[in-house]
Amino acid sequence: PEAELHARIRAAKQTLGDRLVILGHFYQRDEVVQYADFVGDSFQLANAALTRPDAETIVFCGVHFMAETADILARPEQHVILPNLAAGCSMADMADEDSVEAAWEYLTEFYGDDDTVPVTYMNSSAALKAFCGRHGGIVCTSSNASTVLEWAFEQGRRVLFFPDQHLGRNTAKAMGVPLEQMPMINPRATDLGVDAEVLHDARVLLWPGFCSVHKRFTVAQIEQARAQYPGCRVIVHPESPMPVVDAADAAGSTDAIRKFIAAQPSGSVIAVGTEINMVNRLAAEHPDKTIFCLDPVVCPCSTMYRIHPGYLAWVLDGLVEGEVRNEIVVDPDVATHAKVALERMLAALP
Ligand code: 13P
Ligand code: SF4
Repeated sequence: PEAELHARIRAAKQTLGDRLVILGHFYQRDEVVQYADFVGDSFQLANAALTRPDAETIVFCGVHFMAETADILARPEQHVILPNLAAGCSMADMADEDSVEAAWEYLTEFYGDDDTVPVTYMNSSAALKAFCGRHGGIVCTSSNASTVLEWAFEQGRRVLFFPDQHLGRNTAKAMGVPLEQMPMINPRATDLGVDAEVLHDARVLLWPGFCSVHKRFTVAQIEQARAQYPGCRVIVHPESPMPVVDAADAAGSTDAIRKFIAAQPSGSVIAVGTEINMVNRLAAEHPDKTIFCLDPVVCPCSTMYRIHPGYLAWVLDGLVEGEVRNEIVVDPDVATHAKVALERMLAALP
């Protein structure tokens, strides 16, 4: 029964005390978020992992790439646990190391220079972060993508951006890069499916990945929200398609969405294009504002949702018994190179 699960979690937290830190992404369900010592966007949670070097174990209530990042940044003696190993990210799975290596080889040969800078979104495997570390590249999150792209353009003429085409396109467009200079490549085609002339002038080469939650948002939904609530404000996550970002009043990371909502005056109506658990929590936190998800059909991230309190209780029980369950261990060589790309991101920030 639920009550028993929650009693187990509370008891384990009490027993483990400061030896344990629980991190929770904004998209986690409330039943899990209530136990998190830090709740944040993916960038804040990566930093949170660094702020508790004293903790023996970091339990990451989020998805696989986030737990990997925590393991890369944590001290080697610290354990990182993902309560349910099936909590992946479908977008991160859209770019695998072999395909990126093959595309990179093609581009290196095509351009005959070393003016391409690989940029990976945080939502990617540790192997891809390591790829960026080895090839002069960098990691970005949705909260710092434009600063990171500016850094990348200081290093070279063009960027290979993966896995999220939408974050890459929305960010580069806001920086003034013309759409015709940001072709989307087809990693399955031997010539990457892009005309040689277009490839020649490209500034940002976009990988064809996307988020299955954010691709559901449409301009029609925004028009409908504006028709129903004249004067309402619309904010979306930059993983949304470009026309949706263009039609919204603002776009930003999960934490930027929180701050935008907090800054609106009492009585505001705000339509939000992001995951439903977060939108519902924001609505509950701001009872003086009308806050709703742009997509009327429930819009959860199905993999974030795989962190059920039952898994949390199970891994915490293990820790109390001295057993580390569902540990995420990044290969040390991969971690070394991935850390280089993550540290370049931290150093590029103001
Ligand atoms: P944030 O970096 O905004 O937390 O986004 C992570 C994510 O997976 C959004 O889908
Ligand atoms: Fe991945 Fe999308 Fe879920 Fe974020 S919301 S974790 S990008 S599938």
